[in-house]
Formats: sequence, structure tokens, C-alpha cells
Amino acid sequence: MRQSSRAAVAALAAVTANAASLADVCTVSNVQSALPSNGTILGINLIPSAVTASTANTASSGGGGPGGMKRADSTTYDYCNVTVTYTHPGKDDRVVVKYAFPSPEDFENRFYVAGGGGYSLSTTATGGLEYGAVGGATDAGYDAFTYSLDEVILDGNGTINWDNTYMFSYQALGEMTKIAKPLTRGFYGLNSEKKIYTYYEGCSDGGREGMSQIQRYGDEYDGAITGAPAFRQAQQQVNHVYSATVEHTLDYYPPPCEMDKIVNATIAACDPLDGRTDGVVSRTDLCMLEFNLTSIIGQPYYCASENYTSLGFGFSKRAEGSTTTYQPAQNGTVSAKAIEVAQTIYDGLHASNGKRGYLSWQIASEFSDAETQYDSSTASWALDITSLGGEFVTKFVQLVDLDNLSNLDGVTYDTLIEWMDIAMYRYMDSLQTTIPDLSTFEQSGGKLIHYHGESDPSVPTASSVHYWQAVREAMYPDSSYTDSLQQLADWYQLYLIPGAAHCGTNDLQPGPYPEDNMQTMINWIEKGVKPSRLNATVSSGTYAGETQMLCQWPSRPLWQNNSTFSCVHDQKSLDTWDYTFDAFKVAVY
Ligand SMILES: *[C@@H]1O[C@H](CO)[C@@H](O)[C@H](O)[C@H]1NC(C)=O
Ligand SMILES: *[C@@H]1O[C@H](CO)[C@@H](O)[C@H](O)[C@H]1NC(C)=O
Ligand SMILES: *[C@@H]1O[C@H](CO)[C@@H](O)[C@H](O)[C@H]1NC(C)=O
Ligand SMILES: *[C@@H]1O[C@H](CO)[C@@H](O)[C@H](O)[C@H]1NC(C)=O
Ligand SMILES: *[C@@H]1O[C@H](CO)[C@@H](O)[C@H](O)[C@H]1NC(C)=O
Ligand SMILES: *[C@@H]1O[C@H](CO)[C@@H](O)[C@H](O)[C@H]1NC(C)=O
Ligand SMILES: *[C@@H]1O[C@H](CO)[C@@H](O)[C@H](O)[C@H]1NC(C)=O
Ligand SMILES: *[C@@H]1O[C@H](CO)[C@@H](O)[C@H](O)[C@H]1NC(C)=O
Ligand SMILES: *[C@@H]1O[C@H](CO)[C@@H](O)[C@H](O)[C@H]1NC(C)=O
Ligand SMILES: *[C@@H]1O[C@H](CO)[C@@H](O)[C@H](O)[C@H]1NC(C)=O
Ligand SMILES: *[C@@H]1O[C@H](CO)[C@@H](O)[C@H](O)[C@H]1NC(C)=O
Repeated sequence: MRQSSRAAVAALAAVTANAASLADVCTVSNVQSALPSNGTILGINLIPSAVTASTANTASSGGGGPGGMKRADSTTYDYCNVTVTYTHPGKDDRVVVKYAFPSPEDFENRFYVAGGGGYSLSTTATGGLEYGAVGGATDAGYDAFTYSLDEVILDGNGTINWDNTYMFSYQALGEMTKIAKPLTRGFYGLNSEKKIYTYYEGCSDGGREGMSQIQRYGDEYDGAITGAPAFRQAQQQVNHVYSATVEHTLDYYPPPCEMDKIVNATIAACDPLDGRTDGVVSRTDLCMLEFNLTSIIGQPYYCASENYTSLGFGFSKRAEGSTTTYQPAQNGTVSAKAIEVAQTIYDGLHASNGKRGYLSWQIASEFSDAETQYDSSTASWALDITSLGGEFVTKFVQLVDLDNLSNLDGVTYDTLIEWMDIAMYRYMDSLQTTIPDLSTFEQSGGKLIHYHGESDPSVPTASSVHYWQAVREAMYPDSSYTDSLQQLADWYQLYLIPGAAHCGTNDLQPGPYPEDNMQTMINWIEKGVKPSRLNATVSSGTYAGETQMLCQWPSRPLWQNNSTFSCVHDQKSLDTWDYTFDAFKVAVY
């Protein structure tokens, strides 16, 4: 029977929510009556006449954004496809939010927010269906379903569109979540006090977006899972120009094969330092302390010619997807100059006066940003500025509508620090996303699982460690180190994933990857089962199928007898993760 009267549905739902069918509740009038009325959410006026609602179904989307790494799931979910539109009072703007409501019998009192990636917010609302959760996706007022931020940040040369910038940075997701709670209760006919467990999951910029939510809307989220957050945007994005600047400064543009060889040789040398020879450098800190890259000088490398497809990380929608370039065969021995490039990159950005500007990728990570391009006219390797960094400098720092820097003429390490400085002040309260005071989130019972691949070649792993450290210091200034660790672990846990790359496994290191973070989080929030290790599974190589319970930072894995590992305290190793960015005059969290 199809109900058409909202009152009848509400009465039915109120008595026994699970007895209503999807068709019963998936009506425009049911959604309209569930909308929070104007004035109840400050700064948001919903427009009832713009509501749409229709039943739909989808195969599991595997939410979590890029790097969610969820297992493929062939289940099909029926849901109610809803769009609501709101305006900010006093502005004649329109923000469209899609929500996906599971069938009443599948709904488990949850709301799920998936992160996006690059400069895109998530464009799908269905990621929560497999958890019995309502999900949402917002167009952020600038048609974010179609455009990425880098396409709409400038109204014209020199003019930043701040509405778009703030909406992307944190506001659009926060508003979407605020609307979702009353809307969900109304939709299913629940009591206005009914708890709606609210989860966030995302990686890369999706990780940054998650951090933005718990920093800004701490009491809206129960559990957040943030991977490899691309936060500290000013430093993070300009740093994507660092590798090319090293090559430019040292005037050496290595054949990609030579850099690949350095990475392979480093992995081979450092793999056993963690106590097990499995192709995985689980302890990049020991590698940093005990391995000298110069020992690779003279080792032969060879790569056959190929039409090389570089994946990029899709920060810009326009540049998204792969680009294919021709690479001739490369045959040689690793030069001292290439080792100098590698060492300088791993050392991280320093000003000419020696002060530190930023941290770097862990030793044994790939040199993705150092990729050169082959110039067939001169038969030599040449500068290739990754557009991730180049575009940030042109659009976000220089404010000109160009997709990349055209060259690095006159650019020094000091220039990079200057660009970071400009961007840090400019976007301090939007994109930077490093507020270390998480009191609201902590006090309202929020829990955070933060993870990061230890061989991430895009967002440096130490970037996550630095933020964890900043939060620990901000939250527990008066506690001893040991006490602060215990208190922090009650609600914020950081896990480094041995060998893993950016939001995923690493072709060069067959290590573990966590795949059921949401289950872990749901158990923590809804059943009070606090994790102490993170469940991860090895998906390739000799140990494929092995489960590894990852060590919680700051404890570090150490294998015994190639078979089991313990989580140990190693101060000398921990010290290698500690950074002070004294090239800046303000604290960098
Ligand atoms: C709330 O405000 C919006 C725009 O200000 C208006 O379009 C809408 O009709 C209002 N909602 C109600 C229920 O009056
Ligand atoms: C959901 O509804 C919107 C608005 O009517 C529509 O544009 C969209 O195609 C629908 N999506 C699906 C998957 O049905
Ligand atoms: C590095 O190792 C990978 C994976 O083992 C291999 O495919 C690649 O050819 C190696 N590259 C070089 C330059 O040795
Ligand atoms: C690595 O070895 C080279 C050559 O022996 C030496 O000059 C350099 O200081 C060493 N580096 C470190 C960090 O020990
Ligand atoms: C690369 O692509 C070109 C053009 O499609 C083709 O002629 C060439 O054989 C390819 N080379 C390799 C090594 O795949
Ligand atoms: C690489 O160069 C060396 C020295 O010139 C040569 O002996 C070797 O055969 C070459 N390897 C390949 C695969 O071409
Ligand atoms: C800028 O980025 C584009 C796209 O990635 C790339 O093709 C181009 O080579 C870059 N420009 C320079 C000067 O490196
Ligand atoms: C914006 O500035 C860039 C770089 O100077 C220039 O190439 C472009 O034409 C300018 N765009 C407009 C619309 O003026
Ligand atoms: C670990 O995750 C896998 C799925 O990836 C799951 O099958 C297994 O039950 C989990 N183990 C624990 C101890 O949570
Ligand atoms: C661990 O495995 C490696 C490679 O299989 C082997 O060389 C080494 O001796 C083993 N170590 C122990 C303690 O068994
Ligand atoms: C180490 O591993 C070997 C082979 O798996 C086993 O025979 C030996 O008992 C183990 N030793 C210890 C101390 O666990």
C-alpha cells in the first residue's frame, strides 16, 4: 500500500518505524515536513518548494573517498534519493544537498559523511548505505558536483572567491551534517531526541575535510576516520614544488629510472631493519638512522622504453586522470648527483639560513614529485613541475588563473618558504585546517582514528605525526608525557601503516592495509570497545592474507624471528619524527 498522506506516514512511523516501507517515506511531502524550520539552524533557511525525493538503488559505492579501500561489495541497496536546497539568510545563494536514505528496515540510526579528494568534495551520497546510514553530498553552493575548488577559487585574476573557499574548506560539510540530524529524525518519524550516530570517513583531502569537521563542528560527529590528511595546506601544497626546485637548484634532472633504483635499493637495504625481511620497511625511522643513501652510488639501473602513464593524485579535476608520456630506455649507474637530489628531498625544505621550512616524505618513499620529463628534441631529461604544487602557487598564492608554473626561473628554497608564508596567513582560517584544540569534539565524546601510510609519497607521513603532537600539547599542557598519551588515546588514535603509499597500498612494498576501519569505529562508538591496535590485512606478496594488528603511535613495530612483532617504545626513533619549523615566525601546528 502506498501512503500519500504525510500524517498517516508519520503516525505509522512513530508507532513502528520499521513497519513503514521505503515507498511510504520517500515522498516530497514527507521530506518537506521533516525539514528543520527557518530559524532553528542559525544561518540556514531551507526552501521546501525545492525538495525532490524518489526511490533509487545502487550497488555499494565503497565510500570513504579515494583510498577508502573498501572491499568490493556486490550488494544492491534501495534508498530514497533526496535533494534539499537552502540559502544563507541575507545572501541570495543556493546550496543543494543530496541525501540518500536507506529503507526504514535497513536504517540503523546512523549518518555517514564521506570525504572527497583533491579539490573535490564527495559527489556521492550513498557511501553510508552499507552501514545502515543516511549519507549526504553537497554542491557547496558552487556546483561542487561538477567543479573542483581550483576551478572556482578565483572570480578573476587577483580576486579570491571566499564563499567558495570557506564552503569547500569546512562550511558546506558542516551545514550538511547539521541539517541531516533533524531531517533524518523527521524522515523516519523518530523522536526529536533520538541519537543519530554520526560518522566521517575520508583520505587525502578527504582526511583534511574530516579534520576540518572535528575542528569546527566537534559536537556534530561521534566518530571520524581520517587518512593521510592533506592539511597544513600552505606547506603541504607548496611542498609539491620542492622536488622540482631541488633538481633545478642542483641543476640535475635525473632519469626517472635512476630515482626508482634509489627507492628500490633503499627498500632492499632497510627492509630487514624492522626484524623481518618481507619487502616492507616498517621502520623508516631506523632506515633514516642507520642507512646512508651514498652506499647506492654506482649501482646499475635499467628500465626498458615505455609509454609511461603517470597517475597523479587528481588534485585538479581538469588535470585528473592519467597522462601518458614516452620514456626511452634508461641504462646507467646511480650517480652521486642523483643521490644528492634524493638526500636533499628526504631532508626536507630549508631556508638559505639553514632554518627548517617543512618536513619531507619518509626515506624509502617514492619520489613522485621528482619525476622529470623526456625532451626528445635534446634527448635529455628536463624539469617537470607537478601541477599539484604549480597550480597552488599560481592560483592560490599568486592569484592568477593559470594551471601551472611555467618554469622555476629565480625560484629558490627561500621562495618556497615565502609562498608558504603567504598562503599560511591567507588561508589560516580556511584551508590550513590545523587547529590543534579539539576540546569540543573530545568533550562531546567524539573519537578519532587517524591513519597514514608510512611510505606516502604525496602527503608526508610526518605531517600527521606533527599534528598529533600539536593536539597532544594543546590538549594536555599540564600532563606528563605518559599521562597525556593515555588520555589522548581514549579518543584520538594515530596509526602509521607500514609500507603503505598515499591512501592505499604500495606496489613497491607488499604491506598491510586497514580495511574495516568503520567496523572498528562503530564498535568503539556504539559498543564502547576502544581499539588499541588497528586491524590490517596484507593483500599481496609472500604474506598475502596475513592479519597485522598495527601499532598505535607512538609505539613502533619490531619483528622477532620474522614471525611476530611487538609494539615498542624507541625514543631515538621517535626523535626523528620531531620537527620545528623555525623558518616561520608563528607556530606551525
Ligand atoms: C525559509 O526561508 C526561505 C528563504 O529565505 C524561504 O524560501 C522558505 O520558504 C522559508 N521556509 C518556510 C517554511 O517558510
Ligand atoms: C536523484 O534526484 C535528483 C533530483 O531529482 C536527480 O537529478 C538524480 O538523477 C537522482 N539520482 C538518482 C541516482 O536517481
Ligand atoms: C623497482 O622495483 C619494482 C618492483 O619490484 C620493479 O617493478 C621496478 O622495475 C624496479 N625499478 C628499478 C629501476 O629497479
Ligand atoms: C653518508 O656517507 C657519506 C660518504 O661516506 C658521508 O659523507 C656522509 O656524511 C654520510 N651521511 C650520513 C648522514 O652519515
Ligand atoms: C608508444 O606509443 C607509440 C605510439 O602509440 C608506439 O608507436 C610505440 O611503439 C609505443 N612504445 C612502447 C615502448 O610501448
Ligand atoms: C646497459 O649498459 C651496459 C653497459 O653499457 C651494458 O653492458 C648492458 O648490456 C646494458 N643493458 C641493457 C639491458 O641494455
Ligand atoms: C605543469 O603541469 C602539467 C600537467 O601536469 C604538465 O604537463 C607540465 O609539464 C607542467 N609544466 C611544467 C613547466 O613542468
Ligand atoms: C590572468 O593572468 C594571467 C597571467 O598573467 C594571464 O595569462 C591571463 O590572461 C589573465 N586572465 C585574464 C582574464 O585577464
Ligand atoms: C579484520 O578485518 C577483516 C576484514 O578486512 C575482518 O574479516 C576481520 O574479522 C577483522 N579482524 C579483527 C580482529 O577485527
Ligand atoms: C628472516 O628471513 C630472512 C629472509 O628469509 C632470513 O635471511 C633471516 O635469516 C631470517 N631471520 C630469522 C631470525 O629467522
Ligand atoms: C623462530 O622461527 C623458527 C622457524 O619458524 C622456529 O623453529 C623457532 O622456534 C622460532 N624461534 C623463536 C625464538 O620463536
